[in-house]
Amino acid sequence: MPAVAYVNGRYGPIASAGVSVEDRGFQFADSLYEVVAFLNGRFLDWDKHLWRLRRGLAALFIEGAPGDAALLQIARRLVAMSRHTDGLLYIQVSRGAAKRDHGFPAGIAPTLVLTARRFDFAQRLPQLEKGVSAISLPDQRWARCDLKTTGLLPAVLAKQEAKAAGAFEALFVKEGEVTEGGSTNMYMVDGDGRIVTHPVSARILPGIARDTLLDLARAAQMEVVERPFTLEEARAAPELFLTSTTAPILPIVALDGAPVGEGRPGPVSRRLGEMVWHEVRSQTGWRG
Ligand code: PDD
Repeated sequence: MPAVAYVNGRYGPIASAGVSVEDRGFQFADSLYEVVAFLNGRFLDWDKHLWRLRRGLAALFIEGAPGDAALLQIARRLVAMSRHTDGLLYIQVSRGAAKRDHGFPAGIAPTLVLTARRFDFAQRLPQLEKGVSAISLPDQRWARCDLKTTGLLPAVLAKQEAKAAGAFEALFVKEGEVTEGGSTNMYMVDGDGRIVTHPVSARILPGIARDTLLDLARAAQMEVVERPFTLEEARAAPELFLTSTTAPILPIVALDGAPVGEGRPGPVSRRLGEMVWHEVRSQTGWRG
């Protein structure tokens, strides 16, 4: 079954779905999105994603999107239509379509787009064992990285550079400090085994996988320090790892071509890996 889409009330194959060329998502990136994992047919952390979407809509003054119950109903129907049990649900809300003019147009309804497509989460398990590589790049994004807007050009360019270098992720550095990855949150383990990650601020996206990981770590009495860390600290750290919806946790074993720690996943990342996947399985019943 190919990927399926919902656009403003219509369900169908993604290939025949479309929005107006005057849509403000297309014209101005005047839109927000969420990527939600579903495994074994169940959404992971649905409420947290909805919370973040609502927060973003309020911050951008986008009004008139369907309520939580309606969104869940659309999402469930789309996933059922896709016939996939494991995949990614994409939700995008733009301010709507109107004659091009920067200021908000009066009286338009937001555009709502959802897509559902297959995603192989099981590929992350061998990656968890082996680790992945990253490169560091200047963080050239805007001043509101806490909003999940579709204005992703700096991330697109950075991730392309990582891809060209054969790396899994680009690690963003702002004023000497590591903020996050191109599409992931970043962590280091310090010399005392503490988990260090940039605090929630306008410089990073408050990741849902980040939230889960920090909750699990704290519940297991692992020490968490939310503070910015420098690229130099990252280079010297025994362990680095990343999290996101599409990669709930992955150790970084090489940074800019140099090994991280011993060049293989360390004990803290491995322990967290077990905890995170246990949580994914218990929330969804996934057996992959
Ligand atoms: N990316 N930071 C950035 C810049 C991101 O784009 C993402 C997610 C994250 C992790 O957030 P979460 O744990 O909520 O997925 C952090 C999504 C998956 C994407 O753009 O595809």
